[in-house]
Amino acid sequence: MPLSPVTSPPLNSAQQHFVEQLLSKMTLDEKIGQMTQPEKNSVTPADVTRLGLGSVLSGGGGNPDPNTPAEWRGMVTAFQEGALASRLGIPLLYGVDAVHGHNNVVGATIFPHNIGLGAARDADLVRRIGRATALEVVATGVRWTFAPAVSIPQDVRWGRSYEGYSQDSALVSELAVALIDGLKGDGWNSPTAVLPSVKHYVADAAATWGSSKRVNRQALAEAQNAAQTTDQTLAIAHMDQSFVELLKLGAWQIDQGDAEIDEATLRAVHLAPYRAALEAGALNVMASYSSWQGLKMHAHQYLLTDVLKDELGFEGFVVSDWEGIDQIYPGDYDRCVVASINAGIDMVMVPFDAERFIGSLRRAVQGGEVFPARIDDAVRRILTAKVALNLFENPRTDPALLELVGCSAHRTLAREAAAKSLVLLKNEGDALPLRRNTSPLLVAGPDADDVGVQCGGWTVSWMGGRGPTTPGTSILQGLRHTLGAEQVQYSADGQLPVDTEYEVGLVVLAEEPYAEGMGDRANLHLSADQVALLRRVRARCQRLVVVLLSGRPLLITDELPHWDAFVAAWLPGTEGEGVADVLCGDVPFTGRLSFDWPQSAEDLPRREDGSALFRMGAGLNS
Ligand code: BGC
Ligand code: BGC
Repeated sequence: MPLSPVTSPPLNSAQQHFVEQLLSKMTLDEKIGQMTQPEKNSVTPADVTRLGLGSVLSGGGGNPDPNTPAEWRGMVTAFQEGALASRLGIPLLYGVDAVHGHNNVVGATIFPHNIGLGAARDADLVRRIGRATALEVVATGVRWTFAPAVSIPQDVRWGRSYEGYSQDSALVSELAVALIDGLKGDGWNSPTAVLPSVKHYVADAAATWGSSKRVNRQALAEAQNAAQTTDQTLAIAHMDQSFVELLKLGAWQIDQGDAEIDEATLRAVHLAPYRAALEAGALNVMASYSSWQGLKMHAHQYLLTDVLKDELGFEGFVVSDWEGIDQIYPGDYDRCVVASINAGIDMVMVPFDAERFIGSLRRAVQGGEVFPARIDDAVRRILTAKVALNLFENPRTDPALLELVGCSAHRTLAREAAAKSLVLLKNEGDALPLRRNTSPLLVAGPDADDVGVQCGGWTVSWMGGRGPTTPGTSILQGLRHTLGAEQVQYSADGQLPVDTEYEVGLVVLAEEPYAEGMGDRANLHLSADQVALLRRVRARCQRLVVVLLSGRPLLITDELPHWDAFVAAWLPGTEGEGVADVLCGDVPFTGRLSFDWPQSAEDLPRREDGSALFRMGAGLNS
């Protein structure tokens, strides 16, 4: 079933005329420059001027040093001034992954990851988060975020599950549109609008376990560590766990893999949110690393051009993913460039060697392998987005916005979001909410007091990390504020004298932070250490409450009978007080699962007729 095209044009006729005029003045190199997006560590502002680059990005962890909002602003502004100093002065579109707040920036407000927002099911909340995120992003000079992901995960072993709002396409569409509305604010041409990148086109979440070819597992295992590989991306990724260990756990088994689904499913489930996002005015889409029926999306002319641009009428531009084109024909970069541009990629996230890309595309055009009309089409689309954002009139952002980064109003919003994202899945004997002014509460587990863990991946660094990576409030701190410090006793390891007994013990468990394929896991059971911690605390308390911080449902079937209450808290972000608000009964539990919760490994990937421990929609009120 073809989808109807989006009808409202992004530009008025005067703006279209401006774009055509500008295009007619551009040399081939200037056009290619617009199509080039390096990461910030591999170019200088002078390179931006010299090469007429259209964009620069900060990847996950692509931070200035020191990592402060003001330093960010200085860095981005310097690149923008570089662009404005080029022959035609075409403004730069700087891109970041602000996927749960402006998450690379230390001190920014971190909102729950999308899986938690899916559980909150509150479109207005997501719209307000989009607005707050846009303000923090614009404060640092940035006008483009690689969000929202409209992935619709079907297999929660996938390390990117938390990037998806839900397994349900309609819910994903609704929340993605809400985020886009928030990023847009008063209109794309307003000074605080942020261009969304709807990603990863398309069916990134439909890959089959075991189909990923991202890493040469053997070679990497032999190299013993990512730091020794020639893979630059993996080598610079900071990981708490060793890479070899992660490979053994299943890393890169599904992320960037192959979706074997038929076209009807691809359209009905995975394409639908793109239609909705385009309707909401999205002018950028990011191609997926993954393949459909064996063909890489970055080379997929049918899906990128025939479906997205022609059938759906998309007039914005398609950006490739980080080193994404390189995977089409590994080792033959020139062929990669030709295949991707002809397929419909308009801007290439290179990211390391911009001049290699520029030289390659120039040769392809001169050799007749890429037609000038394709180049013009790509540049027209990029300029269209820049004009829509009013960047030519207004290339610089207001420095006064800096005071909004991590401001208390935004943190209050993140606290509300965290509270609304919690899902109560078991509550026997009214273990929750926690009662005040009775005997002290025992809190156990190192994750109860770890802001980095509760934020998860894509926080300050690509993988995220443990500890106080950015200012925030841990769950323990939140409980102490709410209940009173004297009412809360904390034991990180849960080793308690045999003669102690508590009425209520609260254990916080978490997944180690991860991102992308590094978070693919063959086995979603709790770790032996976690089970041992649970047993120790169980023995010392009458009622046991378990709070799980995770990017997806984990397999808890064997443990759940020993718990009186169980709360899925996802990755709530910097405001642990939001979690405490609900645990203590100041805010009711209202979250509902946006994914089925598997009972056993047999339930993965999800099947319509499969079993589940809890179904999507489950969630108790308190
Ligand atoms: C991520 C980037 C990150 C890089 C290295 C890439 O795959 O997308 O955001 O900076 O790896 O850490
Ligand atoms: C990820 C994208 C991200 C990009 C830029 C890639 O590794 O797949 O989601 O937007 O890096 O950081």
